[in-house]
Amino acid sequence: MNTLEGKVVLIVGGSSGIGFAVAKYAILSLASRVIIASSTSERVTAAVQELTAITMGKNLPGKIIGEAVNAKESASVKGLVNRIGEIDHLVWTSGESLKTGFKDVDLDGCRDLFDIRFWGAMIAVQNAKFRHGGSVVLTTGSTVVKPPPGYALVAGLAGAIDAVVRGLAVDLAPIRVNAVSPGVVNTKLWNTLPTESRKKVMENAAAKLLVKHVAEPDEIAEVYLFLMKCDYITGQRIEVDGGNRFV
Ligand SMILES: NC(=O)c1ccc[n+]([C@@H]2O[C@H](COP(=O)([O-])OP(=O)(O)OC[C@H]3O[C@@H](n4cnc5c(N)ncnc54)[C@H](OP(=O)(O)O)[C@@H]3O)[C@@H](O)[C@H]2O)c1
Repeated sequence: MNTLEGKVVLIVGGSSGIGFAVAKYAILSLASRVIIASSTSERVTAAVQELTAITMGKNLPGKIIGEAVNAKESASVKGLVNRIGEIDHLVWTSGESLKTGFKDVDLDGCRDLFDIRFWGAMIAVQNAKFRHGGSVVLTTGSTVVKPPPGYALVAGLAGAIDAVVRGLAVDLAPIRVNAVSPGVVNTKLWNTLPTESRKKVMENAAAKLLVKHVAEPDEIAEVYLFLMKCDYITGQRIEVDGGNRFV
């Protein structure tokens, strides 16, 4: 079975949610170094401690390292990838809560929508030093194919990430570049909603979806692992949306 044995994996956004689950699977998959980075030092430290506790006693070869980065700032992202040095895989899951709506929103106030998920990722990809056989896994979302009302701008962002993956797969070859497109996932990204509304969103989504549940981050992490390990896939987006497109 293919593993990540000996590989160095940098996960920007690895302190929580999907990125945290990818970090956990990467270290369990025998990666030699898993670096998790995000903007809140305390969150990074807590995540490193949690991952260390999960892997304790399993006799794994890998080391878990935490790094602080502000993905909104080019210098911070460049500093991170330069500090880390050579990597095999770059996973980008960083993102803050999204602004929705279109007709009544101040579009100038929405320009920063692309800062973390698109520009932050591009700066990391451009500056990272990939070893032979390396890959990039970016994160888009199911709005790319099925935007709910109010998600037009988010769909635009998701589409930009989806399209740039194909362009980068050509420009960076033989480094492989792919994207994961999750549907609704139970993470802190939804914490901006009041508890009751969040509960309702999750319940409604679960009731509608073909799989009849909302994803936990571990279910999505599997796809990132596959994309890192499979040497014959590039320029692709994998939908892991519980069948959202068909409901
Ligand atoms: N959850 C969903 O339903 C869903 C659906 C489709 C797509 N996605 C996408 O999946 C990705 C991961 O989301 P998630 O659900 O796992 O959310 P999450 O648990 O909130 O994780 C987001 C990560 O981004 C980091 N981050 C936020 N601002 C940052 C900044 N300025 N610089 C660096 N890192 C920053 C956060 O850490 P800090 O706060 O410490 O910076 C955290 O580690 C996002 O791009 C999201 O849009 C999620």
